[in-house]
Amino acid sequence: MSERLEDIAIAMVAEGQGILAADESTGTIKKRFDSINVESTEDSRRDYREMLFRSEEAMNNHISGVILFEETLYQKAADGTPLVDLIKAAGAVPGIKVDKGAQDLSGTSIEKVTEGLDGLRGRLNDYYEAGARFAKWRAVITISENTPSWNCIKANAHALARYAALCQEAGIVPIVEPEVLMDGENSGHSIERCHEVTEWALKTQFNELHDAGVNLEGMVLKPNMIVPGQSSGSKASVEEVAERTVKCLKDCVPSSVPGIAFLSGGQSDEEATAHLAAMNAAYDMPWKLTFSYGRALQAACLKAWSGKSENVAAGQAAFTHRAKMNGMAALGTWTKASEAA
Ligand code: 13P
Repeated sequence: MSERLEDIAIAMVAEGQGILAADESTGTIKKRFDSINVESTEDSRRDYREMLFRSEEAMNNHISGVILFEETLYQKAADGTPLVDLIKAAGAVPGIKVDKGAQDLSGTSIEKVTEGLDGLRGRLNDYYEAGARFAKWRAVITISENTPSWNCIKANAHALARYAALCQEAGIVPIVEPEVLMDGENSGHSIERCHEVTEWALKTQFNELHDAGVNLEGMVLKPNMIVPGQSSGSKASVEEVAERTVKCLKDCVPSSVPGIAFLSGGQSDEEATAHLAAMNAAYDMPWKLTFSYGRALQAACLKAWSGKSENVAAGQAAFTHRAKMNGMAALGTWTKASEAA
């Protein structure tokens, strides 16, 4: 496989494929395991992720890349094969979450800034040695009555741009993820407000990427879709989400970016698929539009598995189904009837 940033980025958004976000931090994976009454240990985390990466049909046909948490990058399967080698053998690109999480932004009670730049250059070199060819850094932007602030938008966009430039210097493709959250307690969090804030965040982001000298052909953008907040009490049609999301992206994302891979952000599995399918079915776009889902690819699998080795095949079947549905959504060929087929 080519080591050029531009070629890696293109491979990450290959036709009809998308990215599996399996990079839950130790705290987040514990929450996911708590929901199925499974203790989170190094071995149980390994078993779960090994099950995903050994889902041959899904991995070979629908998954172009996998985002790992640092622990997984260095972990071995039960038979001693490095997990990274399972991913590579399936033709997918291994990636690594490199941020150190969202911390309270000083001077506010609800806003966050993502940390992790100190020592990042050295860590990126180590991750490259271990096989990672792309990275992820997630910033979160909270909509409330008085937020986001310009300070929060700017601080996060600046950190993402510095991270992206360091990645490219190390031969690693950065996934740039400025996520406008769906959650939060705010009845005024309408789809219009999400649209306005996402546009602000993305325009700021591309200014910062320009200032940092980031090569846009060697990155992938991971944005939220334009949806109403979970607490707004309102629902938007699939068509409205698709129309607003495509418009917002066309207004903000240069056509030299090879691909955009959405996060699912708390949408149901089927909503996340339907929205992506609607965009790809109805619009001409200069970039590939695909998925980089965590929850919307894994929720059904996690439940089917429930921590029991006798359920591995059922877990893999559930994961394969969602990977296949989202692969179709990336091609724009998915319909509701595809779910039953
Ligand atoms: P979700 O799809 O669960 O939002 O996770 C994607 C991700 O990687 C968030 O950083």
